[in-house]
Amino acid sequence: MNDEVRDIWNANAEFWDGRMGEGNNFHLKLIEPVQLEMLKIAEGMQVLDVACGNGQFARKMASLGARVTAVDFSEKFIAIARSRESKNIDYRVADAASAADLNKLPSGHFDAVVCTMALMDMSDISVLAKHAPLLMKKGGIFVFSILHPCFNSGASTLVHEMDDLSGQSEDRFGVKVRDYLVETERLGIGMAGQPQSQYYFHRPVSAVLRAFFNNGLVLDAYEEPSFRDIGDSERIFDNVYKNIPPALVCRLRRG
Ligand SMILES: C[S@@+](CC[C@H](N)C(=O)[O-])C[C@H]1O[C@@H](n2cnc3c(N)ncnc32)[C@H](O)[C@@H]1O
Repeated sequence: MNDEVRDIWNANAEFWDGRMGEGNNFHLKLIEPVQLEMLKIAEGMQVLDVACGNGQFARKMASLGARVTAVDFSEKFIAIARSRESKNIDYRVADAASAADLNKLPSGHFDAVVCTMALMDMSDISVLAKHAPLLMKKGGIFVFSILHPCFNSGASTLVHEMDDLSGQSEDRFGVKVRDYLVETERLGIGMAGQPQSQYYFHRPVSAVLRAFFNNGLVLDAYEEPSFRDIGDSERIFDNVYKNIPPALVCRLRRG
């Protein structure tokens, strides 16, 4: 399955890079500010960026003074990332589901490990959950963001209802959730027009966190960013996710 997932990311890499550039609306408005707040990048900080994609967040962290090792299992994404600014960034092809690949990284070396919007794209998170604490310095942190498993996954449907309240029409936006506790995989579209559908791996929040708790990490920050401050939109996605978070961001710490 992991090979199939990798082939799809390789097929989508160029298209994805064209749309993502140095960050799209979702990243720049919702994810990046929260992750940077949790990471508190300082000059010379050693950061491992797992599943770095085209490297946009690695470049952001390097521009703030971090020394970044950025890995992805897609050779295409790493080639794209390497073709951009790479000062203070060491890009490598590595599979986060492979113990052999993660063992090639220096142990006890990183102040922070970050994984941006990618755990729900991984067929297996247990290997990363086991190795991340070993790669971190004592007191090191693991910051990750994912699509919110409660409200933005294959187990949810976006809902737009309109009521006529004594002549006043009112729009209501929400999410219908089913089978939340069932771990499933499904094909979906991350960006309209992408060449191939990609796999999403739905796990309830408890399953994601338990993988890390079982390896000695503790949760010390949790945020649920939304489009609350964004004005009116035509898109049901933006309207639903004003008062419901489409993503969550966590910081775990090595005790
Ligand atoms: C939604 S993209 C996010 C990329 C980047 N972190 C960002 O925020 O722009 C998901 C990434 O996860 C990578 N990925 C999925 N499974 C992986 C694995 N087992 N090991 C390494 N990278 C993986 C994909 O190649 C893809 O680059």
